[in-house]
Amino acid sequence: METVKYNETFFLITLILLPLSSMEASSCDDYGNFQPYRTSFHFQAHKNWLNDPNGPLYYKGFYHLFYQHNPLAPYFGDIMVWGHSVSQDLVNWIQLEPAIYPSDPSDINSCWSGSATILPDGKPVMLYTGSDTNKHQVTVLAEPKDASDPLLREWVKAKGNPVMVPPSNVPVDGFRDPTTAWQGQDGRWRVIVGAEEKDSEKGMAILYHSDDFYQWIKYPVPLLESQITGMWECPDFFPVSVTGREGVDTSVNNSSVRHVLKASYGGSDCYVIGSYSSETEIFSADSEFTNTADDLKYDYGTLYASKAFFDSAKNRRISWGWIMEKDSSEDDIVKGWAGIMGLPREIWLGRSGKKLMQWPVEEINNLRARNVSLYNKKLESGSVLEISGITASQADIEVAFDLRGLENDPEISDLEEVDQAALLAGYSASVRGIYGPFGLLALASNDLAEHTAIFFRVIRRGNGYSVVMSSDESKSSLRDNIEKATYGTVLDIDPRHEKISLRCLIDHSVIESFGGEGRSVITSRVYPKIAIGEESRLYVFNHGTKGVTISSLEAWSMRKAQINSNAT
Ligand SMILES: *[C@@H]1O[C@H](CO)[C@@H](O)[C@H](O)[C@H]1NC(C)=O
Ligand SMILES: *[C@@H]1O[C@H](CO)[C@@H](O)[C@H](O)[C@H]1NC(C)=O
Ligand SMILES: *[C@@H]1O[C@H](CO)[C@@H](O)[C@H](O)[C@H]1NC(C)=O
Repeated sequence: METVKYNETFFLITLILLPLSSMEASSCDDYGNFQPYRTSFHFQAHKNWLNDPNGPLYYKGFYHLFYQHNPLAPYFGDIMVWGHSVSQDLVNWIQLEPAIYPSDPSDINSCWSGSATILPDGKPVMLYTGSDTNKHQVTVLAEPKDASDPLLREWVKAKGNPVMVPPSNVPVDGFRDPTTAWQGQDGRWRVIVGAEEKDSEKGMAILYHSDDFYQWIKYPVPLLESQITGMWECPDFFPVSVTGREGVDTSVNNSSVRHVLKASYGGSDCYVIGSYSSETEIFSADSEFTNTADDLKYDYGTLYASKAFFDSAKNRRISWGWIMEKDSSEDDIVKGWAGIMGLPREIWLGRSGKKLMQWPVEEINNLRARNVSLYNKKLESGSVLEISGITASQADIEVAFDLRGLENDPEISDLEEVDQAALLAGYSASVRGIYGPFGLLALASNDLAEHTAIFFRVIRRGNGYSVVMSSDESKSSLRDNIEKATYGTVLDIDPRHEKISLRCLIDHSVIESFGGEGRSVITSRVYPKIAIGEESRLYVFNHGTKGVTISSLEAWSMRKAQINSNAT
């Protein structure tokens, strides 16, 4: 691959020119402050700090999302509470009073992350991490005060709290984030808690059993552990169907499911797939956590501390994850807020049985407004085509590239096999190849001085070909003091037989990109200085030496969702 400077080879074509829509979200908040980075359809708190999603559930017609929240400031605080919002459509959210906040000796110094379990009688229960009077991490149980309230506004803490304390081989600050519990075939409850072993620094999912949900006994061996990851935060453990996309309840175990164990470490949500038996209490995973680029990840960009739940209303499993800020804490103080949630994603086992698939829940499509489209268009080497007629800073784009037949090109069959270093270099959009980089330039300024490139390139792998998907933030902002990463992953797509598809959801300061119909996801958090609001542009580009065909491109302006604007 040869490196060529971007602007030398690019020329600009404007394909469709329509007046820009007036649906663009205003760049000012309720107090009149300039807010170019506030999102329009990603969940965020009305103000101040947000991190992990907690206890997501569906109850009596409402989706509930709780979240780690510092109600007093836009930074992680000494006293964290569970913020609480409800929705009937997973798109528009009403903010309620914090649901769970320090009140008892077992959680007086903070109420940290945890999960919901729906008991067989339909009643939800929360297990979460309390920071107790000694600032030790313990597991606390809370129940709805009034289970007939579909909004579940008030929660009471169990008399027997804490229900778990750190075992002797675990540091008092390395024991947290209980999962949703599940019932084995013997009817007993199981739950795992994330931990780190004292001296070995092994990451672990410590397993507990209970007959009544109040008294929990530690199982002698962890459900899974790893020598090389360090502390496991926010573990998740759930079954996925081997027969299709439908989700199943967390307690289901039969020959139609396999199990997923997800652990958050090193800034990523990594997972393994395996077989679980509640009789032997053995989870045997098909692969190991590696703490390298080879780990299977929910997202190869910015997403952490995710939590999935079974949505009984639509028989699907939905995962929520936290997208953190990449600007400075000083900037967060100016903004008055920090942290957003990724879009709720449906999550299921791919047909290969080796990887999870993810796709934004279908309800997000209800925000699609005006669209533009383009079919069977050849994109010559070096071209940059503007997609105008939609609100480029608040948009949903689906594009598919068709390279079938590329194996007949003598140049591509000469393509050298890519080694790891070349692969990493290929995550940069300025590295020119034969087929690729081609893709989208999102949140771009008119002169391309600012843009985030989300793109593909074809590589040789063994006897076949593969496709690298990347998101390059290095030119995402002219501002300093912003973390700008270059992310990538190899997609299981054979470009000889399959189209290469990309869906990008662009929302002012975040771009969630789904490659290969959900095989891989890369989220970028960016802070353009010029390419904001109506100054933002969207382009499709091809920087490879060969032309590529856009078989279809459909793009929509997105409406603004109502999210926590009516704060109490
Ligand atoms: C496994 O359980 C799920 C959910 O209850 C059910 O739909 C499925 O038919 C079961 N499969 C078998 C083989 O029993
Ligand atoms: C769970 O399902 C697997 C596969 O069918 C089976 O081997 C195992 O015994 C089941 N475990 C139980 C009883 O939970
Ligand atoms: C695009 O908008 C037109 C006109 O409103 C509509 O008929 C068409 O179905 C839309 N296309 C897509 C792919 O949504």
